[in-house]
Amino acid sequence: MSKAFGKIILAGEHAVVYGYPAIASTLNLQVCVSVQHSAHPGLKFVNPKIDPEHQSTALFAQILPKLTQLFGNCVAELEFQIDSDLPGGCGLGSSAALSVALIRAILDFIGESRSVKEIASMALELEKIFHGNPSGVDHTVIAQEGLIWFQQGFSERIQAGRPFKLVAAIASPHAGTLAAVQAVRKNYEANQIQVTKLFEEISKLTHAMRTHIEQGNLLELGQLMTRNHELLQNLGVSTDELDTLCLLAKREGALGAKLTGAGGGGCVIALVSDTGSSLLHAYEQAGYRSFVC
Ligand code: MEV
Repeated sequence: MSKAFGKIILAGEHAVVYGYPAIASTLNLQVCVSVQHSAHPGLKFVNPKIDPEHQSTALFAQILPKLTQLFGNCVAELEFQIDSDLPGGCGLGSSAALSVALIRAILDFIGESRSVKEIASMALELEKIFHGNPSGVDHTVIAQEGLIWFQQGFSERIQAGRPFKLVAAIASPHAGTLAAVQAVRKNYEANQIQVTKLFEEISKLTHAMRTHIEQGNLLELGQLMTRNHELLQNLGVSTDELDTLCLLAKREGALGAKLTGAGGGGCVIALVSDTGSSLLHAYEQAGYRSFVC
């Protein structure tokens, strides 16, 4: 059985598509893939949590040919059982985790190993099926694991000066990363000066967030997460529900909160200064699934 964790983006989503930096981390929910020779080859979902967007036959029809291109004809004889506790359609990297887990599973099955960089570059080929032209932050952090700095294909680990705890809450599913990225592109083309200004401010705060993570300044880190959310609102990728979930976090004493991932629905993350249990309870009371990460 091969696995890949999901991810959250702490800062810089969308701006990262335009070459600005992002900070991302893996989280403890995962996609698992097991492989066997079978008279009934193909992709089988043991668990329906994978994003309905990604279960579309049209997209999945492209995965096996791509894997065959990468690994040869042996792929045509394999059955892939896919299980996941990572909810799809909410910006937690389900497609990138699926891509990395499929590649790790095949490598394991054929008894070959590859570097993290090689696995990431193969995963990118699968991610392109789902997201057109992704920045690469999702599959890179998932292949590399941990807390990373990412910019234009370059990535490195960030060492946190002090451990920090986030609470994530899941809102309604989004319309898909591709749709959100295309909406931002349209906005960028129509209002290049204003949108570039937003990206530049996001970039500035992403750099500052890195310093605060490294120095363990959690108060400042939280404030910048909230500011990043405001900038994402201005970019047009938040929703009333995501804004409400961020406000609820602040009301419960969180140091900061923001949407994470593509937006338009999906997930928020809040930085907490305690165990997070009161915020988890508040989200549960409001009818939202939430978890500590
Ligand atoms: C999606 O997790 C992050 C985005 O910035 C898209 C990308 O980086 O390709 C919205």
